[in-house]
Amino acid sequence: MARTSRDAIAEIKAKLSMVDLARRYLELRPMGNRLVAPCPFHNEKTPSFTCSSEKGLYYCFGCQAAGDIFDFYGRMNGMDFRESLEALAEETGVELPRFQKADGFAPKQVSHKQEMMKMHEIAAHHFRKNLQQSEIAGKYVAERQIAEEVLERFGIGFSTDSWQALADIFKRSGFNLDVAVECGLLLKSKNGRYYDRFRNRLMFPIRDVNGRTIAFGGRVIPALDDGESAKYLNTNGTPIYKKSQQLFGLDLARRSVTAQKSIMITEGYMDVLTLYQFGYTNAVACLGTSFPEEQVKRITELSKNVELLFDGDNPGREAAFKACGKLLVKGISCRVVLFPPSDDIDSLLKEKGKEVFENLRANSTEGLSFCIQTLKKRSPKDAVEWSREFLGQIEMPELFQPMATKLALGLGIDEAELRLGVVEQKKAQNTRINAQSGESAKPAVPKKKTADAEILTVATRYPHRLQTLQEMGADLILESPKAKVYWDKLLQYGEDEILPFLDESEKAFWVKCRSADAPPRNNEEGELLAIYHLIQAKQKKSYVQSMVAAVRESGEDAQKAYLRALYAQGRNN
Ligand code: CTP
Ligand code: MN
Repeated sequence: MARTSRDAIAEIKAKLSMVDLARRYLELRPMGNRLVAPCPFHNEKTPSFTCSSEKGLYYCFGCQAAGDIFDFYGRMNGMDFRESLEALAEETGVELPRFQKADGFAPKQVSHKQEMMKMHEIAAHHFRKNLQQSEIAGKYVAERQIAEEVLERFGIGFSTDSWQALADIFKRSGFNLDVAVECGLLLKSKNGRYYDRFRNRLMFPIRDVNGRTIAFGGRVIPALDDGESAKYLNTNGTPIYKKSQQLFGLDLARRSVTAQKSIMITEGYMDVLTLYQFGYTNAVACLGTSFPEEQVKRITELSKNVELLFDGDNPGREAAFKACGKLLVKGISCRVVLFPPSDDIDSLLKEKGKEVFENLRANSTEGLSFCIQTLKKRSPKDAVEWSREFLGQIEMPELFQPMATKLALGLGIDEAELRLGVVEQKKAQNTRINAQSGESAKPAVPKKKTADAEILTVATRYPHRLQTLQEMGADLILESPKAKVYWDKLLQYGEDEILPFLDESEKAFWVKCRSADAPPRNNEEGELLAIYHLIQAKQKKSYVQSMVAAVRESGEDAQKAYLRALYAQGRNN
């Protein structure tokens, strides 16, 4: 067991590199000697996010977001430092010491989110065991021809008709049952009894990209169907599950997505399982069909190549149409594979085989062409309106022209007419964007370095030399209150544990000093010497200033004597 939280942090960092973690969310590309990607924390087209395993840090040149693995994980998952420390400790199998007040992370108990995830893990295990023991559920998965290996991989389980099974387990393990209600695993009756929310269903664990179960989808098993419940019962929004930010299956698909540089998007849980079973391991399902912006963002960060596999019925077509629009404006190329209205991926692959499926894929429609097909069935007025709005949202200027031409040709409308209005709209948009970026473009650290910045730079780069700097009097000549606060933090925390205690601008400064474009830290003595001279010059200046002040206060003769002395000293130097 790690003895202190500092040990634990170092141990986790040794097991999980910054680059490996970032790769779960971003398509990192080599550029020069670093790895870059468009920044996930602000909207941009050119990559200014960079990270390094060696330094264990990430930094964005655009928005100055900066930090280490805990910070990155926390931002991506909406967790604070403590929560991401706990989650990554759990993932890497590093045991955390009990937090001491002195660590600065006050609460003693495990955070609620961590407790919720633990309960989900227990629930998944419980459901999994049920499936292995239930004859009816076993029969159902056999009928659906789901391979054992796939059931195992996806952790598919079964919730029995018991009202208490899960509630009892949680009670016995000493969990707070209200927290179980809050994360959607239990319900609470009016008279205060806790009972299981999922019953008689085939259970699909919904996992985050890190592989942790954060929600469930439960499908009715026909033989157990009372005819009154919905086909699927899903976890609603909870503190650990924002449906709009997750994609079912991404934890398993991620590596294939990166390796194959493309992602398949489907509608259903079962479709992802079946695709996986047939060797298509880069598939995910949007949870519901609306394909919200956050999911779009997540996908665009992982791959620039999307295959949409949707049902051939009307809702499926409509969903594909909307998804295309959202992806194309972001510069993502997408293709639509539509299934015959009577089939979905699952039934098609299982009943007609891989060849028929491959045929459909080969005949897929390019995204914008699919949009044009769809628009042709609408009124010309609607088609023009949609096209203008679409063109107005295109984020890469170089795509505007070809897309406008293709839409105009495809819809049989005059291109000039189509562009009408879009230009004005775009102009307004651009001024808005410029105005915004103008504000945020202020550098966190002024261009010409102040003495404060110079001292703090060296102090940040060589924390083991803080004492030397202090002996030189560096801290005494810091001018701005902010600099003094930062200095105190450097003194208080070691380099491995300081990040969570820094505010955003301090963090950006810290990371910038130690990575990004900072020179290598191999000129320690030289940099310290420069600070020494700086301090000397500053001290002398303030000495002279106080002399002058003293002279002003004194009598005329004394003034003359002092000034003569000063003049002499100046000549001697
Ligand atoms: N869905 C849902 N709630 C429903 C119906 C559907 O959440 N009442 C979601 C599920 O994620 C489901 C997807 O929409 O996987 C697609 O629905 P559908 O095509 O009806 O289900 P299938 O995935 O095809 O499931 P099955 O093959 O078992 O019928
Ligand atoms: Mn289906």
